[in-house]
Amino acid sequence: MVTQADVASWGTGASSWSILVHGGAGDVRADSVGAHVKGCERAASEGAKVLAAGGSALDAVQRAVEVLESDPLFNAGTGACLDSDGHIALDASIMDGKDLRAGGVCALPAFEHPIAIARRVMEATPHVLLAAEGASRFAVAQGFTPADEATMITELARKKWEAARAKNTIEGWAGGASTSGGTVGAVARDASGHVAAATSTGGMVNKLAGRVGDSPIVGAGTYADDEGGACSTTGHGEAMIRVCLAKTAVDGMRTTPEASARDAIALMLRRTAQTGGLIVVAPDGALGLARTTRTMTWAARTDAEQASGC
Ligand code: GLY
Ligand code: GLY
Repeated sequence: MVTQADVASWGTGASSWSILVHGGAGDVRADSVGAHVKGCERAASEGAKVLAAGGSALDAVQRAVEVLESDPLFNAGTGACLDSDGHIALDASIMDGKDLRAGGVCALPAFEHPIAIARRVMEATPHVLLAAEGASRFAVAQGFTPADEATMITELARKKWEAARAKNTIEGWAGGASTSGGTVGAVARDASGHVAAATSTGGMVNKLAGRVGDSPIVGAGTYADDEGGACSTTGHGEAMIRVCLAKTAVDGMRTTPEASARDAIALMLRRTAQTGGLIVVAPDGALGLARTTRTMTWAARTDAEQASGC
């Protein structure tokens, strides 16, 4: 186990906008890292287009996450893992740092873009989180088309499910030298100075039917507040809920983004012995990340620079 939080950061905060995306913390095999980084780069680039055109951080993080939800390499949307009943059950949330509005869906059946439904929960209901059948009915009433579950289940997802069932385990999707990416997320700051965060996942392989992870939970998987910054997390969801990881990282942003990310993920390791990663953006647009897993693919763009890695 990696015991130190590996950290990095970009941007001095001088840029007018910035975006950072992750493709999940875990242990991606060396021969798969390149494809995962490319997926993150595509997502960061699409989010950057929104920001460069003067769009909002909220639109940018939604767009970036949608790109990763469509990419079958990642455990979100198409390519999501299967629960103990052999079904897809999707978790996602989005938050606007401007006014702390947030929306989420959890245990959602197959829809192509859970993050878009989470956004609709935020904008079209007085609620923050809708679950399962109710979330599905809401989505249909809002004009979203349910997907054919079979088309969203990849060969890899089925293989991982069968392996977990054979061992009678519940597994982090991207654990154990995996060829797959994990939970996806994005944080951004727009030219108007607002921050936002979004996170989407299939959760854990062979999770108990009905299990909800951190990703749709405001404060655990996603948090955004213009006064503190924004965060999206990936890794062991139960541990993230227990330490309110995203809110913990945003609260810590009074130091540097890098130190805040490192301290928050180190707290989770110390107090729960579980690993993961997170990405943050500070109110001035400076970006940071940290992980206690072996890998977490990511890509960053600002109006002046771009970077990616694992
Ligand atoms: N437990 C799935 C992930 O965050 O990658
Ligand atoms: N971090 C994603 C999950 O545990 O579901």
